[in-house]
Amino acid sequence: MSWITEIARPDIRALAPYRHAAWEPGLVRLHANELPWRSLADGSDAGLNRYPEPHPHALAARLARFYQVDAEAVLPCRGSDEAIDLLTRCYARCGRDAILITPPTFGMYALCAHVQGATIIEVPLRRESGYGIDLPALHKAVTSAVKLVYLCSPNNPTGNLIDRATVLSLASALAGRALLVVDEAYVEFSGSPSLGADLRAHPGLVVLRTMSKAHGLAGARCGAVLAHPEIIALLRRVIQPYAVTQLTIEAVARALEPAAVEESRQRVAQVISERERMAAALSARISVRHVWPSAANFLLVECADAGAALQRCHAAGLLVRDLRHLPSLGQALRLSIGTPEHNDRLLEVLP
Ligand SMILES: Cc1ncc(COP(=O)(O)O)c(C=O)c1O
Repeated sequence: MSWITEIARPDIRALAPYRHAAWEPGLVRLHANELPWRSLADGSDAGLNRYPEPHPHALAARLARFYQVDAEAVLPCRGSDEAIDLLTRCYARCGRDAILITPPTFGMYALCAHVQGATIIEVPLRRESGYGIDLPALHKAVTSAVKLVYLCSPNNPTGNLIDRATVLSLASALAGRALLVVDEAYVEFSGSPSLGADLRAHPGLVVLRTMSKAHGLAGARCGAVLAHPEIIALLRRVIQPYAVTQLTIEAVARALEPAAVEESRQRVAQVISERERMAAALSARISVRHVWPSAANFLLVECADAGAALQRCHAAGLLVRDLRHLPSLGQALRLSIGTPEHNDRLLEVLP
């Protein structure tokens, strides 16, 4: 057992995996108390009257090929949200352990830690350096209680990418103490490669990917943890059997076919071009004070009066994200890149 397992919760390490019904697709299923007929409402290929594969190995293998990692290094789950929940539950003991986050950042890291009763240590990003990581402060903050350090790259909501060398040097520095979890939900929009290629050299590195953004499957709820097989084995003890539904398994399989992957690439290219058009156009608006550079599919926009901008958008039927409650984001809104028509409507309502 290596350190990546040793730092996990001892009770999870000792947990006997749930014994789910056997998975032998060629045989008649009289062992899982299912209905033998399909419902009229069933639009799936395989039949929703049957439970899906308890741990979807074929899906994991497909995702592994797509993300270019070993099949044992992948855990498919219900969006990266579930990945964050599983990591927290496996690694952070209630009342004893901590996670470290770099706000402003995605809210689920803190939420899952709160639910788990783990401590949250915050090392704010440095606004003056374009929301870069405060590395000296981060190193100081990693006490022996910290089991998970989260980096979001590109970061939600600031949009900036953390450079690979910084992430990898941090992974090396944390080795033996804490996992470094890099959330790459938006990496496809950054033009930079995933850190999935660095997993073998850094056993404590965990990369989170999702089908929700670049692949347009947010409603299917499918994400993937890419990590050392020992970490994957641990998370698999805790994830519910049948977590990923049959409809999702089929939708993701279709989304990973070459034609769909090519379409996703074209959509990503369109989003990037619209993002740059919007950034330039918004920067020229008097209602806008600053548009932060973005490597994601949204823009962080500081307004002269965010409340007024929100109202104008809402009155025009456009929902944008209010970030005024977040530290260091006083008058900021987050605008997702829509179709060119949606984006034009947004430009029309902001003076
Ligand atoms: C940084 C980041 N990570 C994860 C997620 C959740 O993604 P999923 O749909 O895969 O759960 C989001 C969703 O907005 C996000 O912004």
